[in-house]
Amino acid sequence: MPRHARYSTNMRKALITGITGQDGSYLTEHLLSEGYEVHGIVRRASTFNTDRIDHLYVDPHKQDARLLLHYGDLTDGPALRHVIEQIQPDEIYNLAAQSHVAVSFQQPEYTADVDGVGALRLLEAIRDVQARTGREIRYYQAGTSEMFGAAPPPQSEATPFHPRSPYAAAKVMAYHLVRNYREAYGLYAVTGILFNHESERRGETFVTRKITRAATRIKEGLQDKLYLGNLDAVRDWGHAEDYVRAMHLMLQQDEPRDFVVATGESHTVREFLDATFGLLDLNWQDHVEFDPRYLRPAEVEHLHGDATKAREALNWAPRVGFNELVSRMVNHDLELARQEKTLREAGHTMTARQSGDI
Ligand code: NAP
Ligand code: GDD
Repeated sequence: MPRHARYSTNMRKALITGITGQDGSYLTEHLLSEGYEVHGIVRRASTFNTDRIDHLYVDPHKQDARLLLHYGDLTDGPALRHVIEQIQPDEIYNLAAQSHVAVSFQQPEYTADVDGVGALRLLEAIRDVQARTGREIRYYQAGTSEMFGAAPPPQSEATPFHPRSPYAAAKVMAYHLVRNYREAYGLYAVTGILFNHESERRGETFVTRKITRAATRIKEGLQDKLYLGNLDAVRDWGHAEDYVRAMHLMLQQDEPRDFVVATGESHTVREFLDATFGLLDLNWQDHVEFDPRYLRPAEVEHLHGDATKAREALNWAPRVGFNELVSRMVNHDLELARQEKTLREAGHTMTARQSGDI
């Protein structure tokens, strides 16, 4: 029997860090649909930050609640350890991160602490709990195509890393720690090297959502200009719903292995603008202006993934292509813009940020 042969239990338990983020919400839906009990770590904030998972939440006092939330933070090792001790999950998905590349240049130390050392805190807690209980805890690390950075495309598992930001460097650190804990202690710990994935739930300061939010608001007469940086960057954009299926599959294998997850199709930011404004019968050249604030000190010019290994070993393939991704985001944001317009006309003041981010 392979060293990591799968145990069988009635209801598997998963713990997700970053459950309130884009991927956390889709992964929660996926794991609930697979019959899991899902636990999530949520940061304490002065306002509610659970919008993306509110539709899944059931009063925990009810017997059949299968989504349970715990306060915690990737910078707080004892709290993470306590949650893991308490839940004793079968699988941990570490999705929590300061995930914005540009912000990582402004907050490099914090980004390294959360995205790099945060993974170490979890791995150490898993090692201890697993050694004491004798029950395996499988670990998924949210790695990124940003780790390839300046390495020429196409990028696969064999491509050397050349990180171009504090964010990417912190993720490379986490990648090596995962590999080291696998080799040194035999943990079932893997890194998914995921290329950009977007959705209707994408944070509004990432370029795709910034564009679909702005274009639909322009269409409804709610704003006129959109300020952007480098339009020549090339990204391999997929839909987050597809990518969380790959995360789950990576933890169901006989042996722990790292995988690249990508569509294998790439587009420039300019092409994303063409597709979005085209769907709305608008000309983006009439509305988009350059703002050097959105340039990065070092840019990742060209990401284009080769996910052959995931296609063959995990039998994974994306279901949503580029055009469907753009049209889903546009349709969703058009509805939001129309609601905003209706409220505005009724005298309510809703303030969406015109330029999308600071
Ligand atoms: P996201 O929407 O920015 O979500 C990040 C999550 O991390 C949020 O739940 C956030 O909580 C939480 N978080 C941030 N700092 C934390 C801290 N100190 N302690 C605990 N939780 C913290 O990111 P995403 O797009 O879902 O991405 C998920 C993961 O995949 C991230 O690790 C990201 O770096 C990585 N990744 C993403 C992509 C992509 O294209 N989306 C590609 C490759 C890798 P709040 O809601 O409270 O802010
Ligand atoms: N955010 C942003 N805002 N990006 C802009 C803008 C702008 O106004 N104008 C141009 N861009 C360019 C960026 O310079 C970058 O080349 C590209 O658009 C994509 O930027 P983001 O959408 O912010 O994503 P990212 O590729 O830097 O990072 C995302 O993908 C990574 C995977 O490759 C994030 O989700 C990371 O967390 C993830 O690891």
